Amino acid sequence: MDLWLEGHRAPVPDETTAHDLPVAGALPPELNGRYLRNGPNPKPGEPSAHWFTGHGMVHGVRLRDGRAEWYRNRWVRTRRFTDGTPFVRADGTLDLTSVQANTHVVAHDGTVYALVEAGLPYELTPDLDTVGPCDFGGLLTTAMTAHPKRDPRTGDLLFFGYGFIPPHLTYHRLSADGKLVESREVAVPGPTMMHDFAITENHVVWLDLPMVFDLELAGRGAMPFRWDDSYGARLGVMPRVGDGPVRWFDVDPCYVFHVGNAYENGRGGVVLTGARYRDADIAALWGGIGGASSRTEAGTAGPAAPRAAAAGAGAASVAAASGTSRLHRWTLDLATGRASEEVLDDRDVEFPTLDDGRTGLPHRYLYTVAAGSSLVKYDLRTGTAAERGFGGHVGEAVFVPAEDARSEDEGWLLTIASDRAGSRLLVLDAADLSERARVELPRRVPAGFHGSWIPDSDVR
Ligand SMILES: [Fe+2]
Repeated sequence: MDLWLEGHRAPVPDETTAHDLPVAGALPPELNGRYLRNGPNPKPGEPSAHWFTGHGMVHGVRLRDGRAEWYRNRWVRTRRFTDGTPFVRADGTLDLTSVQANTHVVAHDGTVYALVEAGLPYELTPDLDTVGPCDFGGLLTTAMTAHPKRDPRTGDLLFFGYGFIPPHLTYHRLSADGKLVESREVAVPGPTMMHDFAITENHVVWLDLPMVFDLELAGRGAMPFRWDDSYGARLGVMPRVGDGPVRWFDVDPCYVFHVGNAYENGRGGVVLTGARYRDADIAALWGGIGGASSRTEAGTAGPAAPRAAAAGAGAASVAAASGTSRLHRWTLDLATGRASEEVLDDRDVEFPTLDDGRTGLPHRYLYTVAAGSSLVKYDLRTGTAAERGFGGHVGEAVFVPAEDARSEDEGWLLTIASDRAGSRLLVLDAADLSERARVELPRRVPAGFHGSWIPDSDVR
């Protein structure tokens, strides 16, 4: 059995709806909206070559007036889901609607979108039915990252698309009222898996890292990316306004799925935090979830070969799946062109989140998941961290500010925790990670990727 089809990642076989869910503790009555979370969920019996390739399934919990009105889970009915339309057409062009929209779910300008970085966003109703793919009136001609960033000052949604075929990287800006008002090609050396990016008040921050596209892997039906020692690693700082060039900073080769945040430090520098994998870590992780982990598996021997052999199959892959990432901070000095890097903690953390109202701005706190089973709150001002375990699996924590919050961590963290008994939506006090309420869900929710709290004011 493959690691991504068993245990807490095992898919569920169908869609369900349940009403009036049992609640322990007291749900904050001001939480009126939906917690939605996306993740891969292959259909029963369907082959699944990689954890990342299962069809998207969105799990939702509706909260209103201190009650949990419903839970429902729905597959995102992309063209790949409904009729298996090929992603690569006979003429070599891509069908950006035939994807698995399985990575994130966000709302912008009153509309809910399910996202995956290989294709177009899919619009969902607030009750999680699929409306269809969205190209913003025909203007979006590239894929859309699953990690767009909303500028809290302007309300614009900034994002990008990367492509196997040129253009390899395109920057996009969606206005607060949902119009695609800017698309700009960005020159990079080649096609890579660019999962996330960051913004600051005046800049966009790019991560051009050595998980490169490999056509041979694509031809074998595998995830078409592999580590390439020869690609190098760069962080780029691009002015948001105008067409000024990207300033590239060479950094030690690594991979970063997720950034925490970025901001301008007032001294001519851009500060970026993220969960950093060393080359050995990404090879181990990638091998454990179904990807070819090295140049050797892709057919061209390379320095990562010994690690790849260890990450190959059987019992070794269980150990290999423990590839870890650690919270790092890079400071990019625009005056000197120098980059510095520091590790902030030795814990194995992923899924960094923060108060979205601080995106691109100086901030004090980050929240992460450690080793898949606890939450860690980082105080970046004091350099301290608080950790709380949950005795099972816990997913990404979504911060919801309290009404009239007076401090950055006055609010709640929403996350799904699971153990052998089932799954529950936890509402934690973000100040001290204590439990304020729990909503028992009618069935286990498989481990997944990203989610959002979508207040009623954010949906039509
Ligand atoms: Fe992600």
